[in-house]
Amino acid sequence: MKLLTVASQKGGTGKTTLCGHLAVQAERAGFGAVALVDTDPQGSLADWSAARLAETPRFVQTEIATLERDLAHLRDAGVELVIVDTPPAVSYAIMEVVRLSDLVLIPVRPSPHDLSAAGSTADLVERQGKPHLFVVSAASQRARITHEAAEALSYHGPVASTIVSFRSDFMSSMIDGRTVMELPRAKRSAAEIESLWLDIERRIGRRAATVTPIRLGRHTPMSA
Ligand SMILES: Nc1ncnc2c1ncn2[C@@H]1O[C@H](COP(=O)(O)OP(=O)(O)OP(=O)(O)O)[C@@H](O)[C@H]1O
Ligand SMILES: [Mg+2]
Repeated sequence: MKLLTVASQKGGTGKTTLCGHLAVQAERAGFGAVALVDTDPQGSLADWSAARLAETPRFVQTEIATLERDLAHLRDAGVELVIVDTPPAVSYAIMEVVRLSDLVLIPVRPSPHDLSAAGSTADLVERQGKPHLFVVSAASQRARITHEAAEALSYHGPVASTIVSFRSDFMSSMIDGRTVMELPRAKRSAAEIESLWLDIERRIGRRAATVTPIRLGRHTPMSA
């Protein structure tokens, strides 16, 4: 089971939006059962999940004190991926979640304030010895600052090759617990999430395929 944490000390960078979207996309892409955890007292991801009609991804109520034990239960129950949303702050809770993570995704809006905050989030993750991945989010694809932001971030660590655009369908889909992949006319936004998920999957490692073991037996030729 893999643990993906979405974190940024700056507020409103798209953490909650990406948590919901990536969880749905991971399941659509066949990664396996996905569970969502919200460690933000604002509870936006919990609200999104409650508004959602579909039964998956599964939302799990937990707290930092019991997180490790709850993760073990999820692993035993066959969950392949847990995605954790975090509050826009540096706290003991975030450090604890990062410590257990396989990858920390750091969304960054292309603005000077967001960029300077992203560096300290990345430092925090590095201090825990964990890998991180920046993603430029809610950006205008054509604006110069978007590409300058991606370049500036690349000096502090890997940057996702997908830039998530600023589009109203990301906002509207979340209102009733959906994602852009579940809207009829949001193909470009959906394609961005599909491509971002592939980037993340490459980094956390694909789900191990079930391979039938080859055993030597009477009918197995020993040499070609
Ligand atoms: N790609 C996008 N395009 C347009 N709007 C977006 C996009 N991503 C997020 N938003 C909007 O920006 C706002 C903040 O997004 P979101 O709640 O996901 O950020 P956050 O980092 O979780 O915020 P917080 O730090 O408060 O938890 C929301 O209104 C959301 O709908
Ligand atoms: Mg949030």
